[in-house]
Amino acid sequence: MRISVVGCGYLGAVHAASLVELGHEVVGVDVDARKIADLRAGRAPFYEPEFAELLTHSVASGRLTFTTDIAAARDCTVHFICVGTPQKHGEYAADLRFVQDAAESLLGVLEPGDVVVGKSTVPVGTAAGLAAMVSEKAPGVRLAWNPEFLREGFAVRDTLHPDRLVYGVPDADGGVVEETLDEVYAPIVARGIPKVVTDYATAEMVKTAANSFLATKISFINAMAELCEATGADVKQLADAIGYDDRIGRKFLNAGLGFGGGCLPKDIRAFMARAGELGADQALTFLREVDNINMRRRIRMVELAREVCDGSLLGKRVAVLGAAFKPDSDDIRDSPALNVAAQLQLQGAVVRVTDPAAIENSRRQWPQLDYADSAEEAAERADAVLVLTEWKQYRALDPVAFGQVVAQKRVLDGRNALSRKAWTEAGWTYRALGRRAS
Ligand code: UDX
Repeated sequence: MRISVVGCGYLGAVHAASLVELGHEVVGVDVDARKIADLRAGRAPFYEPEFAELLTHSVASGRLTFTTDIAAARDCTVHFICVGTPQKHGEYAADLRFVQDAAESLLGVLEPGDVVVGKSTVPVGTAAGLAAMVSEKAPGVRLAWNPEFLREGFAVRDTLHPDRLVYGVPDADGGVVEETLDEVYAPIVARGIPKVVTDYATAEMVKTAANSFLATKISFINAMAELCEATGADVKQLADAIGYDDRIGRKFLNAGLGFGGGCLPKDIRAFMARAGELGADQALTFLREVDNINMRRRIRMVELAREVCDGSLLGKRVAVLGAAFKPDSDDIRDSPALNVAAQLQLQGAVVRVTDPAAIENSRRQWPQLDYADSAEEAAERADAVLVLTEWKQYRALDPVAFGQVVAQKRVLDGRNALSRKAWTEAGWTYRALGRRAS
């Protein structure tokens, strides 16, 4: 099939290259000329394992092209909308400007029989509105909503090997749209991956409900961590023990600094805002608490740093290992690690941040912080070391050798990712959220 992908950010670029891998010819369209130049040259504009190789390979095959000119989408029969839906400034709701612009830009190239497929995360009701516009302005064109569930760091794998496919299809001609999407995802469909074919509203809600559930799970265990701190219990063992119950499951029960990134925080907020518009805000008031618990962890981390620095951060040298919102990513959007680093600095600490992939992005957003290229450099003569993103490099640090570079052997494990035993045996004061001091 000839397919266009409008929006070549994180989601769109990975989706476009993955569609080539599935056997299609794809044109990626974006308004950002610099991004397009990078992609055209086979250069990944962000860090994502497996993506660079997939991109180079797809571009070299001649079946993946990139352009800023929407006219190139004219001979495509399926058009994916993969643009961002950031949080609006000063409010919780999602900003749908880019989705609207993408849909309008497609109007000039659509032919009867084409299918427009939304993948962006949108407030429930958006697809119905777009479908009405498309059927009025481009008769014979159908719209589908097909949310994605990719995780950063696993984006290629999640796209090519999803655990489910969700198709939101129109009431009329739903079967035709389903067939088209089955053709797009033929190799995945052939593997018998579960598929849910439903209406627009359900498809839109699947995504926000899934992200809300994940955020709730993380905040649940972080609330337990607060209680553990109050009682001397151990949140890691608690998570292991409740996680053995397969109705609960151990995944997403890692207590620590909480969730950040470009999805979970903004999606739960947009969901609350939309529920309010629909007169169903009470149904989601618990998400406000989920958000609160999450933000409190950052404050607690700063307090803990102050505690281990003998009650004052003024002039203390603090090393922050990790700036990305999670490992295997250079994404710093709403990064808990950078948020803590900035708070420490504002409270008088001398902060040096390091990260295997996110320093460049961090420097752009937080130029006032000091950056180092390695954990050792960041930790030189440090009074405390904070591990705030659990990159494997940091999990693998040798506490004995690392102890040689710091001024004070104090480590704060913000992600419960280090071996308490190994670090305490090497003479470090080990502190973690939700666990007793040792
Ligand atoms: C998330 C969803 O997982 C994905 O399905 C959706 O498509 C987009 O949003 P992503 O933002 O890439 O993906 O990251 P995810 O792996 O979900 O982690 C989100 C945040 O939660 C990270 O900051 C991570 O450190 C944190 N987290 C995750 C925890 O604090 N504890 C956990 O147990 C798991």
